[in-house]
Amino acid sequence: MMHQGKQILVTGLLLMLFATIGTSLVGITYETTAEKIADNERRAMLRSLNQIIPPERYNNDLISTVLTLEPDERLGQKEPSLAYLAKKDATTTAVIFSVIAPDGYSGAIKMLIGINADASLAGVRVVSHKETPGLGDVMELKRSDWILGFNGKSLDNPDTSNWKVKRDGGEFDQFTGATITPRAVVKAVHHCLLYFSAHKKRLLGTADE
Ligand SMILES: Cc1cc2nc3c(=O)[nH]c(=O)nc-3n(C[C@H](O)[C@H](O)[C@H](O)COP(=O)(O)O)c2cc1C
Repeated sequence: MMHQGKQILVTGLLLMLFATIGTSLVGITYETTAEKIADNERRAMLRSLNQIIPPERYNNDLISTVLTLEPDERLGQKEPSLAYLAKKDATTTAVIFSVIAPDGYSGAIKMLIGINADASLAGVRVVSHKETPGLGDVMELKRSDWILGFNGKSLDNPDTSNWKVKRDGGEFDQFTGATITPRAVVKAVHHCLLYFSAHKKRLLGTADE
């Protein structure tokens, strides 16, 4: 009887030990995987940022030098969003915004928009969208160089009345059979320039707002 009781106790203790080891292993694996995912996301984001502002244009830790911006309609953001600050020897040379064009053909188009300290566009890239393949995806760099047409543009170039697609009397090409997508992108880029102009001093760190 005594012997049987001892056996049950040993079995119970062994079960507890295996359960503890199992739970710890799951915990460690989860933490390592989560760290890896976060690291991969940071690398992917940095690659996207570097397409707009190449590494030779800054010497700070671009992905960690951020401002949290309040939600703003001109950025299409209903939640706070991050602005990445590219700095060369403590001088901000460019700012990259996370922008959402809310009015694509199939909803939101997420973009990164880089604006140089002189208020000209450093570059625009579409990060994600649900536009129709073959029609609305011409804004992707792998489909065409349409998106590069924003490089160097600013609030005065072209002037306000021309910050539209050609179909609406503006300067920017629409896509064949698809005007809604480029119209949404052009509007979002223009609005981002307006946001930059209104908050330039704070963004460039030259004054408190
Ligand atoms: C199935 C389908 C998918 C479409 N996808 C898009 C799209 O992704 N982007 C877009 O701008 N227009 C898209 N269109 C076309 C729009 O309905 C609209 O006709 C067009 O944008 C207007 O451009 P247009 O004035 O140059 O014809 C799509 C149309 C259909 C029937």
